[in-house]
Amino acid sequence: RIIPIIMAGGSGTRLWPLSRDSRPKQFISLLGSGLSTFQETLRRVAGATFDRPIVVTSQDFRFVCAEQLQALGIEAEIVLEPERRDSAAAVAVGTLLARRRNEQALCVVLAADHAISNADAFVADCLRAAQAAAAGMIMTLGIRPTAPSTAYGYLSVGSQDLGHGARRLAGFVEKPDVETARRYIEAGHLWNSGNFIFSAERMLTELRSFAPEVLDGATAALDGALRDLDFLRLDADAFARVPKISIDYAVMERTGHAGVVEASFDWSDIGSWDAVHELKEKDGQGNVLEGSVSVIDTTDSLVISDEVLTTVIGLSDVIVVSTRDAVLVADKSAAPKVKELVAQLTRDG
Ligand code: GDD
Ligand code: MG
Repeated sequence: RIIPIIMAGGSGTRLWPLSRDSRPKQFISLLGSGLSTFQETLRRVAGATFDRPIVVTSQDFRFVCAEQLQALGIEAEIVLEPERRDSAAAVAVGTLLARRRNEQALCVVLAADHAISNADAFVADCLRAAQAAAAGMIMTLGIRPTAPSTAYGYLSVGSQDLGHGARRLAGFVEKPDVETARRYIEAGHLWNSGNFIFSAERMLTELRSFAPEVLDGATAALDGALRDLDFLRLDADAFARVPKISIDYAVMERTGHAGVVEASFDWSDIGSWDAVHELKEKDGQGNVLEGSVSVIDTTDSLVISDEVLTTVIGLSDVIVVSTRDAVLVADKSAAPKVKELVAQLTRDG
């Protein structure tokens, strides 16, 4: 059975002010299902194909994480990071734990903050990828690009057939500039969906070659880890020495053993508020209105309030997100800049 490793430690700042440091986007119910994307991710890998999941998250999220697992009646191994060291560290820790469970473990790394419409298709794609993973490849799930986004990794699909519809990758480039992204789209590259399927052995070999400090730090942090109730707390001193780098830069851009299965599911990483507007059902004016909200002469907008009565007149293509202690008003096309805004707020204290 495949061991799911769920990366749930990101900060999700582009969905501020609903997504907060204390409760980032993977733990909030954004899409109206009543479940968070973290819970939907858990559900996706709850079937008989998969083993007990390993959840890697920040110690700050331990209670919300445990609560949301319990609400689904799903048991997981929860690993707590004392600080955020990005995804290579999380993958290294998860993979080391998976190998402890089973020397020959096959793993699927899942981002906890994506919207995937068809769970069965996702599982089927993972299984196709697992065949090549068992033969030593690190498999990605590729998405047909819709715009030259600079927020994604780009997959250059090679000609070598790995069976079951999988192809070898000819290259992986993380977050290229917009000109390069345009060229890649013309050349038929796919987006990296941020989920990876591999044997523990292969991932640990690649980490040893390309990111030895990440692997050593993760190993030391696990050696010094403490069990605390249901949690495994990584050793803080060891973990603090792990280089801060994502798995995409650390391994995926460098490995010669990468492959891709083109995804057969609909995918969004809900990267910013315009994506939320896009994903949700709209009224006749193209609006998404939620909570205590009232509008006149307003079109193609997202207006959400979780408490304070919030009203809009005569605007188009705007995002308004109103919470008890913070309000965002933005042009829809500028929605990804919320990340910069949050950085500015953090700087200004
Ligand atoms: N445990 C843990 N610790 N998880 C983390 C950390 C961390 O320090 N940092 C990020 N994550 C989790 C996030 O919660 C998310 O589920 C996943 O790792 C990916 O991190 P992001 O920070 O969201 O990465 P990204 O969106 O910039 O880029 C990745 O995803 C894209 C698709 O959405 C890359 O894999 C790209 O290549 C890919 O296209
Ligand atoms: Mg992301």
